Amino acid sequence: MALPVIEFTNIPSHRKNVLELKPTTRILGTGSYAPARVVTNSELEKVVETSDEWITTRTGIRRRHHAAAHETTSDMAAAAGRRALEAAQLSVADLDMIIVGTVTPDHSSPSCATAVQHKLGATDIPAFDIAAACAGFVYGMTIADQFITTGAARCILVIGVELLSRVVNWQDRSTCVLFGDGAGAVVLGPATMHRPGDVPDGPRPGILASQIYTDGSLADALQIPAGGAARPLTVDELEAQENKVQMVGQDVFRAAVKQLTASSAQAMKAAGLVSRDLDWVVPHQANMRIITQVSQRLGFSLDRFILNLEEYGNTSSASIPIALDEAVRDGRIRPGHQVLMCALGAGISWGAAVVRF
Ligand code: ACO
Repeated sequence: MALPVIEFTNIPSHRKNVLELKPTTRILGTGSYAPARVVTNSELEKVVETSDEWITTRTGIRRRHHAAAHETTSDMAAAAGRRALEAAQLSVADLDMIIVGTVTPDHSSPSCATAVQHKLGATDIPAFDIAAACAGFVYGMTIADQFITTGAARCILVIGVELLSRVVNWQDRSTCVLFGDGAGAVVLGPATMHRPGDVPDGPRPGILASQIYTDGSLADALQIPAGGAARPLTVDELEAQENKVQMVGQDVFRAAVKQLTASSAQAMKAAGLVSRDLDWVVPHQANMRIITQVSQRLGFSLDRFILNLEEYGNTSSASIPIALDEAVRDGRIRPGHQVLMCALGAGISWGAAVVRF
């Protein structure tokens, strides 16, 4: 069936805005961390009734990284954060805030960000978590943008991190094969700040648009039902693995295709860009079939997508910043490039952002 293609060509008034748009917040550095242990699809064949063929054809995932027993979510977040600071040639003392997108914090309380702040050696600056699941990084970036735009903060570390291998049900083949562990980070600062590699007299880098959404009516489609205050963990709940991820995959799939397409189109429009202005799309890496359908509906060819799903699986809030960091470091994303990011996950919560590097 032919998919409807979103038209970006009929918005000349927004083209005008491109020239007028002065972004206030920019990405100054990126970093990421993936645990050393790589788990292949074939290894999972020994854990649940599945096959490399099923996982590859239904999702596009071939491998994922799993944290070692001694590693914590905050360890991975701090490692990615340090690398982002190094790339920006900034130090912890330059930070005014730390925002951590995660649904797999070290503890229910206090926030994972408090441990990250301590491990990085920062003091006094506010540090807090955003629990927007796969959309956590786009949420964190959108919130940080508000603080920087208003002048309330100068440099903010935004991290997406998940340790999902410890919260999936290893007897549920419909979910356990999908997820991986890792962390990605960016340092955001005023668009007027320079960073290594900037092109003199190039267009001003920055966040051109960033928008976030939630539809709580779909909360049951992807959840960890027990273990919170609504359903404190009992022995029965524990035995039934009600404290592990549960998903109605097809509901999430349909919502992802629809909302990633719509929010991407909306962010493009808000940024005043048309399709040909875009150099790259960095989508949330959940399922290759979702990404392919979004690409067809937006009318962007897949070769403009930064993809690493094959290697990492779905790392939820870490997926966009890990892919972003890889593409910046290997030179695919260069200064001046305009990049669309879009993500959707539990909540359901989703969002999209357009950033000029
Ligand atoms: N190995 C082998 N067979 C499997 C596996 C597996 N790992 N998992 C499910 N199956 C079987 C099912 O039991 C079912 O068998 P049946 O027909 O005998 O009942 C069959 O495969 C088809 O199952 P479906 O759930 O219909 O498979 P579908 O094509 O929908 O793919 C998937 C499932 C991959 C989860 C898909 O729905 C999906 O990707 N959804 C998006 C969810 C997602 O990515 N969520 C992550 C967080 S949110 C986000 O990031 C967007």
